[in-house]
Amino acid sequence: MHGMKASLHNKNILLGVCGGIAAYKAAELVRRLQDAGASIRVVMTPGATKFITPLTFQALSGHPVHTSLLDTEAEAAMGHIELARWADLILIAPATANSIARLASGRADELLSAICLASSSKIAIAPAMNHVMWMAETTQKNVQQLQKSGVKVFGPASGSQACGDVGPGRLLEIDELITSCTQLFSTGELQGIKIMITAGPTYEPIDPVRFIGNRSSGQMGFAIARAAIEQGAVVSLITGPVHLETPEHSKRTDVDTALQMHQAVMNDIKEQDIFIATAAVADYRPAKPLPQKIKKTDDELSITLTPNPDILKEVAALDSPPFTLGFAAETQNLKDYALQKLKNKKLHMIAANLVAHNLENKDEQDTGFNSEYNALHVFWSNGEATLERCRKMQLARQLITLLAKKYDEITT
Ligand code: PMT
Repeated sequence: MHGMKASLHNKNILLGVCGGIAAYKAAELVRRLQDAGASIRVVMTPGATKFITPLTFQALSGHPVHTSLLDTEAEAAMGHIELARWADLILIAPATANSIARLASGRADELLSAICLASSSKIAIAPAMNHVMWMAETTQKNVQQLQKSGVKVFGPASGSQACGDVGPGRLLEIDELITSCTQLFSTGELQGIKIMITAGPTYEPIDPVRFIGNRSSGQMGFAIARAAIEQGAVVSLITGPVHLETPEHSKRTDVDTALQMHQAVMNDIKEQDIFIATAAVADYRPAKPLPQKIKKTDDELSITLTPNPDILKEVAALDSPPFTLGFAAETQNLKDYALQKLKNKKLHMIAANLVAHNLENKDEQDTGFNSEYNALHVFWSNGEATLERCRKMQLARQLITLLAKKYDEITT
């Protein structure tokens, strides 16, 4: 669960209670699921009503309890097909050997299994039965078949049983059932959040065959794209010339120059929730790229450079800007320069990295440009964090977790 968000808040849970001695525990389960924010409706098998009355569940859930397919009163409140559609999760607890067998064989001659058959929601069962019944080959086969078709199985726990035996077959503790249900709804830290990421270098043409570029490989930006996708983000990746595979599930746009990157970013930026500027955009471009290859002479040659638009600064200055995370590539005074960029460009966050030493020192201590490793010093208006040197993918995951936290603070 680490790093994941999950809650039962506003979730509709249909609790199926079957006829076993553990049925009494289902009453407490209803309360605890409600405490966790879920809405509960209860369906009981006829057998369950011999152990605990529908009235108990009606009082706890605040809704009529469904006990049979042909109950006109309960059907009038919410029909079984409607119930099947309403549920985000059908939790069968306790699930008896008999109910598991019915479910596995796709029976629809009894209310609970009919609802399961008619539902496309998540289904989970919490088995509770005598340990010999649980270990029986038929039961195990049925459980495996259900698992294959996507049904989650919570437990059973081992311990002393109502019948006096000891073994596997106890209903899982309520706390564990709640946690298991919650995990079913876990989503990424950036679920559905739209993120645009720039990556790689830009190439600024001097003539048709020459350009001014830099050593960025795109690895850092691509790793950030992957880490964001892992957390459920919808990622647009705008990249300069690199030799890297497109991260799965990303929308990739390839550009060469800063002007093209600027255009690609601006085309789509209004849709974005977050902008991450990892690209090493050339600050200047040759003012007049020549249409033909420059001929060699003995004279000195100078190229006039003109400033490129500052993409990140322009994005941060929009009327309603996305959350902005900039990078600062420095060869000295990392903190001072990074803080200046944070302030001048009006960013939410900046991730600073040293990019000098790998120019002269290509050993295992290299970081930054065109290395598999990096280290980041991250700053925001009232705080900072150091992310120690490690592989860029690991670093990207840490950065995304930090970013998600800050983004949350600002938007909620
Ligand atoms: O690609 P790799 O080999 O993996 O290397 C990663 C990296 C070292 C390139 C990366 O971690 C990094 O530091 N990227 C930013 C490089 C850079 O251009 O930094 P800067 O300090 O010059 O620019 C500051 C910020 O403004 C950056 O977020 C940059 O993307 C942005 N910028 C700069 C100029 C410009 N014209 N437009 C911009 O958007």
